[in-house]
Amino acid sequence: MNASNLIPVAVINPDAPPESLEAKQPAIDNGARNHGKAGYFSHDYMQKEWERVWTKSWLIAGVASDIRAVGDYFLFDIGQESIIVTRTDEGVRAFYNVCSHRGAKLVSEERGNKKVFVCPFHAWSFHNNGDLRRITDEETFQPEVIAHRPGLTAVRCEVKAGVVFICMDDEAAPLAQMLGLPDNYLEGYNIDDMRVVRHVRSEWQANWKVGVEAFYESYHLHVVHPETRGVMGDLNVQYDLYPHGASRMIVPLGQPSPRVADQETVNEGLCMMLEDAGVDPASFTGSAADVRGAIQKGKRERAERMGLDYSRFVDGQLSDSWATGVFPNVQMGCHPEAVFLMRFLPHETDPERFYYDTMTLLFPVESPDYRPPAWMGLPDGTDVTGLTRPATEYYAHNEDAKLGQVLSQDSDLLPIVQQGMRSRGFSGQLWGEQEQRLRHFHVELEKRMGIEH
Ligand code: FES
Ligand SMILES: [Fe+2]
Repeated sequence: MNASNLIPVAVINPDAPPESLEAKQPAIDNGARNHGKAGYFSHDYMQKEWERVWTKSWLIAGVASDIRAVGDYFLFDIGQESIIVTRTDEGVRAFYNVCSHRGAKLVSEERGNKKVFVCPFHAWSFHNNGDLRRITDEETFQPEVIAHRPGLTAVRCEVKAGVVFICMDDEAAPLAQMLGLPDNYLEGYNIDDMRVVRHVRSEWQANWKVGVEAFYESYHLHVVHPETRGVMGDLNVQYDLYPHGASRMIVPLGQPSPRVADQETVNEGLCMMLEDAGVDPASFTGSAADVRGAIQKGKRERAERMGLDYSRFVDGQLSDSWATGVFPNVQMGCHPEAVFLMRFLPHETDPERFYYDTMTLLFPVESPDYRPPAWMGLPDGTDVTGLTRPATEYYAHNEDAKLGQVLSQDSDLLPIVQQGMRSRGFSGQLWGEQEQRLRHFHVELEKRMGIEH
């Protein structure tokens, strides 16, 4: 293979009209600078990120399907803050999870249904729209202390395509201006009709950006995840950069990597993918090059049989992974059947740790013999009926988070990257064009950090 074959200018569908979601986006020149490594270790930098990024940006707090009934709530914990996100009579609202009397944390259970929040300290209570409901022994307060009827402090909150965003900055531009993704990009997936069937949060020993970076490129797949070579076109990836740090990579699935010599054999992994798409591998007569097309066709036919409208999806969306990044800390693996929402959450105090938080969302299926596609990595026996929202599974850094093979390979690797980067012999990352999403992310991060060059 000569070098020019390696330049990642892949376009998944050259015939896609420019306004289609599939179209290759115009290139953005983010320069070629080395961004250094100060941001991965220092408490001071971490604090500045808190002040300039986390508290100023729109952040994905969760999904609206987790709070369908009035009174349903979940907690979104980020850094040292905890935020209550709840459905009120007037829609979804968010509040800091703190009592206005003496600052006790108001709610501890991660989710539930409450129309009234009662403080565990002196039992002040608040309506779920944030209004003060009752002050215990109110007559014992001097009237001017409580004259402003201290309710809960609101946090800005917007729901977009079934995803709940919050922003702690009252001055920030509205979400619609800051999201960066094209209109109707997320809407097509009907996330509102999906249900969280698994939610895992595990602690990894690396800075949160090392996590983002590892999931924003397909360059490491052939090394760290060699089992993907038979089924992922890791060099045929389309990278797209959007405004405000958002980005996307389309990884074609159902085809062998161009790195492998055998482009003919329908290997075991491809057979599994055919099967997942409702195509019988035993009677499949094509070669490896035909599998991706057969998956698309199989899924479209199956959708028709099931009465599902797939007309809004282009063929590539049926077979490929559209890994979509929302600044600062989210990647969503978008598929017609499922969305894999991953968040890289900073540790409360340690710049060299983060929480890898993943939610798997599926359309609820009540049929008892339904098996979710293997690529989702759901443990056997996962309840996919959507009837019960599973509790978040928490894992410490040294515990096996049962994330499946691919993610365990990443969680083993990331601490090695973090450790190596500490060395005096390393002065900052050198990104190739397969890593253009990383550069795009860092350019946006530095802009928000106010770092000038
Ligand atoms: S701190 Fe909440 S009632 Fe006192
Ligand atoms: Fe990986």
